[in-house]
Amino acid sequence: MDNFIIRGGKPLSGQTVISGSKNAALPILLATLLTREKCEIKNVPELMDIKSTFELLNYLGKNCFYGYGNFVVEEHTALKLHAPYDLVRKMRASVLAAGPLLARYHKARFSLPGGCSIGVRPIDIHLESFKKLGAVVTYEKGDVLLSAKKLKAGRVKFRFPSVGATENLMMCAALIEGETVLENCAKEPEIEDLADALNKMGAEVTGAGTAVIKIKGRAKLKGLKHTVMPDRIETGTFMLLAAAAGGRVRLLNTAPKTLTALIKAMEKAGVKINCYKDSMEVIAPHGRPKPVSVVTRPHPGFPTDLQAPWMVLMARASGESEVHETIFENRFMHAPELMRMGADITVTGQKAVVRGVPQLLGAPVMCSDIRAGAAMVVAAAAAKGKTVIRRIYHIDRGYEHLEHKLKDLGVDASRVKA
Ligand code: EPZ
Repeated sequence: MDNFIIRGGKPLSGQTVISGSKNAALPILLATLLTREKCEIKNVPELMDIKSTFELLNYLGKNCFYGYGNFVVEEHTALKLHAPYDLVRKMRASVLAAGPLLARYHKARFSLPGGCSIGVRPIDIHLESFKKLGAVVTYEKGDVLLSAKKLKAGRVKFRFPSVGATENLMMCAALIEGETVLENCAKEPEIEDLADALNKMGAEVTGAGTAVIKIKGRAKLKGLKHTVMPDRIETGTFMLLAAAAGGRVRLLNTAPKTLTALIKAMEKAGVKINCYKDSMEVIAPHGRPKPVSVVTRPHPGFPTDLQAPWMVLMARASGESEVHETIFENRFMHAPELMRMGADITVTGQKAVVRGVPQLLGAPVMCSDIRAGAAMVVAAAAAKGKTVIRRIYHIDRGYEHLEHKLKDLGVDASRVKA
């Protein structure tokens, strides 16, 4: 297992290139199950979760080729219809294979993902919604079995705007003839990227990015060529890194318009952000950042995936602020680690009170999930002295070539064998 060693406390300068979005790439790669034609997807980041998707698609019978950000999917044999526990356990997003397989074969079987370190994460919204389109849901030995004599386009209203359920249903509806209307949809930018990909495959998807998505499905879908959108969570993490560590950095190949809530909160904290069409410049405040409270909400609200690195910025603020996590019930595992670095944080339920301190100090810490891991990196770059970060396999699920990008920005970071 690898560790990161970061010697922080120095202001940053430099520029780095943002990778393709993990959370946009995952559903788009699984949407290739909707067609037997060849699909070519570019700007796919080299990450553990993408490797797991590669394994899943190959297991199901696709022939995948992957390198240098290009992912090619071909099909030469009949597909298997079962996503087994070993693959789903590694990556929850494997449940997004269900919608495409159900639509194409009227049958799918996948292992129930179970909870993870940030929450219980049930998939009831996905399953209830498949039922509305005509699927029957049964359970066997820890697996969910979906089947349908005939799927019917229809109207589905989600009880909560779940990102995964919106994506799963969009993919399923794309291969059901007629118009399906999805209501109370997630509005995350990754949903728009998926809609774009499904439209290239021949479906007619409108309204992605709003609460109501209409999908005119087709009996058959084509292959596609698509370039994945930039990763807004990686961008936000580097923005917070620069703001917390000090200095001035430029981030290239990004989409500032996907980060409005973060930009607003950072500007309130005193960070200067210059946005261009596909890049941005982040200039840290001269003194300590001002305290700003945030509440995580579905897009366009403040993203839960940036809550942990945001807390690092507030840990250095010139006063007290609150962080209220409303999306996941257990997403404060980074708080005790930050306290080991000198942060002053009290967590009560889903609220954290953060009293800023003048300086964080390097310490041995560990990661509990991708974004908690990213917070450790941001804290280490801002802290005085050496930080050793353990369990960085969590970070490797979500951040491509992280140590190289940190070096681009002037962070003294290295990956070492534990
Ligand atoms: C996606 O997860 C992202 N993952 C997550 O990214 C992100 O944190 C999350 O959306 C919220 O923005 C991918 O895109 C692969 P949800 P997803 O369904 O789809 C509850 C990262 O760090 N819920 O919108 O699983 C659920 O328990 C991550 O990259 C149900 O109750 O998120 C949670 O509390 C981790 N029943 C809330 O809704 C359901 O059937 C939001 O979940 C589905 C969800």
